[in-house]
Amino acid sequence: MTSSVKNETNNNWLKQVYNQFIEAANKLTLAIEDGINTAITSKYNPFYYHGALPQFYLWVLFLSGLLLFAYYVPTIDNAYLSNRLINAWTSVQYITNSLPFGGVIRGIHRYSGDAMVLFIFLHAIRVWFTDRYRQYRWIQWATGVILLLMVLFIGQTGYYLVWDERSLLLTRMTVSALDALPIIGAPLKAWFLNGDTITNLTLSNFLFIHIGLSFALLFVLWLHYVRMTRPVITPPPAVNFILVAAILLIVFLVPISSGNMANLNTQPNTYDVDWFFLFNYWLMAHMPMSVFWISMTALAVGATILPWFVKTVSPPVTPAEVVINKCTGCSLCYRDCPYQAIEMVPAPAGSRFKLLATVNVPRCSSCGICVGACAFDAIDLPQLPDATVLTQIKSLAEVK
Ligand code: HEM
Ligand code: SF4
Ligand code: SF4
Repeated sequence: MTSSVKNETNNNWLKQVYNQFIEAANKLTLAIEDGINTAITSKYNPFYYHGALPQFYLWVLFLSGLLLFAYYVPTIDNAYLSNRLINAWTSVQYITNSLPFGGVIRGIHRYSGDAMVLFIFLHAIRVWFTDRYRQYRWIQWATGVILLLMVLFIGQTGYYLVWDERSLLLTRMTVSALDALPIIGAPLKAWFLNGDTITNLTLSNFLFIHIGLSFALLFVLWLHYVRMTRPVITPPPAVNFILVAAILLIVFLVPISSGNMANLNTQPNTYDVDWFFLFNYWLMAHMPMSVFWISMTALAVGATILPWFVKTVSPPVTPAEVVINKCTGCSLCYRDCPYQAIEMVPAPAGSRFKLLATVNVPRCSSCGICVGACAFDAIDLPQLPDATVLTQIKSLAEVK
């Protein structure tokens, strides 16, 4: 057997295993979804607003973060003001123990971050298992991977801000991880520390990264939504209450605290791992740095390009087609298309109408909504003509 034939056989075998796994996962997801519909009706089924859940926690994070920001002092100085030591660690202590509801706000901020990561993973798994992430949805998937990486990094910088022994250890671990990178390591380290070593500037840099990236997240979210005409971004009000109540319950059951204040002259070596945000530090500590970077990069790149390497569970997409001489340019299809796949362009010279609908082929999902929207029979799915749909509906009606 030549090596190219061998490779193909291996690829086919791998493809088959992958496809069987996705089909089983797809069936399981839909079965769970059906079960939830029966138990609490489709209106409250979280599967139908899986993207809205992380979005909801993002708003909670912005609001609670704003309140924390009002009292946070981004310095590691041991400076005294009226006999009181004022630095990042003491300001966090003040927020937690002395400010009315400060500990609750801090808890809400911390646990909403965890909840957001959890729901992002569930959201990503759901779109992956139900095959809603490829072809015309690739941009949502690729920006989703960027969003996930950003959210994880923002969360980690939040842990540096507390400036307890864990913050110091994480900062030093990040510096050694960056040091291990060839060429880009040194500039990245200087960017991260805002200089050569840990100083006051380092902490103000962490605050800047934490807040700046949170706002940058809004831009990436816009890219995430730009190809969707009506993304579901808000859960029903009853669910919002449950989500807030769940966080409050955790805040009261597991009140938030900090470790001892960081001291640059000591070398802490143990810390509590928050598995939602700090799992990569655990990995870093348990494998050679080169293996860590190679596997993380492979994971991120592999996840980003996944949509181009897998087969289709759904039928192949055949884009809608406009019947030019019937189109009146009324724009109804343009307004109804869920994937922004229709553009209204000036009608050709000599036409009675001003505009003409055109289909942007790579964005079309073949969903047929535009066909239903058009009152002039001016847009069709070539593989599914109106006559076939009518026959199918009639035969279904007869069976009933
Ligand atoms: C900050 C994190 C994220 C938020 C707030 C978010 C939010 C959303 C929302 C609201 C939707 C629309 C859902 C709908 O209308 O049914 C959506 C769609 C989508 N998201 Fe995300 N997302 C995030 C991260 C991710 C990640 C990490 C991935 C995957 C790597 C991802 C992949 C997708 C895909 C493929 C769709 C299209 C699904 C469809 O059309 O049914 N998202 N997202
Ligand atoms: S079939 Fe029509 S409505 Fe559906 S995505 Fe394509 S152009 Fe848009
Ligand atoms: S709904 Fe029909 S007539 Fe109106 S713009 Fe679309 S294709 Fe043309």
